[in-house]
Amino acid sequence: MTTILAIETSCDETAAAVIVDGTTIASNIVASQIDLHAQYGGVFPEVASRAHAEVISAVVAQAMTDAALDYADIDAIAVTQGPGLVGSLLVGINFAKGLALATGLPLLGINHLEGHIYSLWLAPDFVEPGFPLLALIVSGGHSELVLMRGHGAYQRLGGTIDDAAGEAFDKVGRLLGLPFPGGPAIELAARDGDLRAYDFPIARTQGTYDFSFSGLKTAVMRAATVKPTARRKGREHSVERQATLRDDVSTGDVAASFQEALTDALARTASRAAADFDARAVLLSGGVSANSRLREKLAGALDLPVWTPPLSLCTDNAAMIGAAAYYRYIAGHRSSLDFEARASWRLSEDIYAD
Ligand code: KG4
Ligand code: ZN
Repeated sequence: MTTILAIETSCDETAAAVIVDGTTIASNIVASQIDLHAQYGGVFPEVASRAHAEVISAVVAQAMTDAALDYADIDAIAVTQGPGLVGSLLVGINFAKGLALATGLPLLGINHLEGHIYSLWLAPDFVEPGFPLLALIVSGGHSELVLMRGHGAYQRLGGTIDDAAGEAFDKVGRLLGLPFPGGPAIELAARDGDLRAYDFPIARTQGTYDFSFSGLKTAVMRAATVKPTARRKGREHSVERQATLRDDVSTGDVAASFQEALTDALARTASRAAADFDARAVLLSGGVSANSRLREKLAGALDLPVWTPPLSLCTDNAAMIGAAAYYRYIAGHRSSLDFEARASWRLSEDIYAD
């Protein structure tokens, strides 16, 4: 039996979990900072790292208490090494290094995106479907299409060339005056809307497996908001914040049509990649994988099993980091105590492979 204590602080959730044999959750604690960041309409890095520092010790202690274990029962400590906000990553990494030093336990630095993929291994009914698998990771910071040829063996097929899928949800949510994060709010608003009310464009990325969502966001802004005045023009970000919704616009219709266009783009490209690479199944993960329209669309577009994590494991958590770390651990990987946080880290770039 291999028991791993995992820590995740890459963005705005302070999380710790204890995972047994890569598939069983002994404990899973997530302290969300969403309320802190809602006032800024997005994650504010300095606020995030300070908040991580305040609660990390209590979150890890709670994970150990919930699992009813002490450090003598733990085989390794895993922590998200990147990609993410460096100030946030460092809080988790330094805490994990301190623990590893104090306990003498081995330490593993884990890629956050690999963690999202392994959230599927924690789904109660998941049976490993064989390889290759096509992973679609869609979150606030990432939209990646990755071919998984085996445990820890990845080929990046494509990804967003501008906004991440979750970022597009968040920006459009802000335009529509919906609460942060925009994804769940748009999904809710879309239920009362007509998905054919607007024909928003889907960027063509023919010949690649890339996505592009910034044109879609601009189309929503044009259709739904009053033109910004010359004085307000300037940084795109400030235009979004200051844009005013037109009186005749139905939030539900815009939300439903936007969600339809974005999920179409994801489903279309993923199904093309799955066919081109003979994938055995599709693994959908990341915060946006909570979206039920996306789940439906992917299942409809593919003649393959589509696996999705339980809702509680779609957004950031440490359980998924523990699951990924298990496969690294049994493959003999270990990180040195002086490893550094990585703000960006593509999955195909395997730092363990030397
Ligand atoms: O994976 P995650 O917690 O953090 C990152 O690693 O980025 O993903 C958060 C993102 C946010 O952009 C949020 O709007 C989006 O996931 N999200 C959703 C839904 N729930 C969360 N997007 C669409 N529909 C949802 N139901
Ligand atoms: Zn994430």
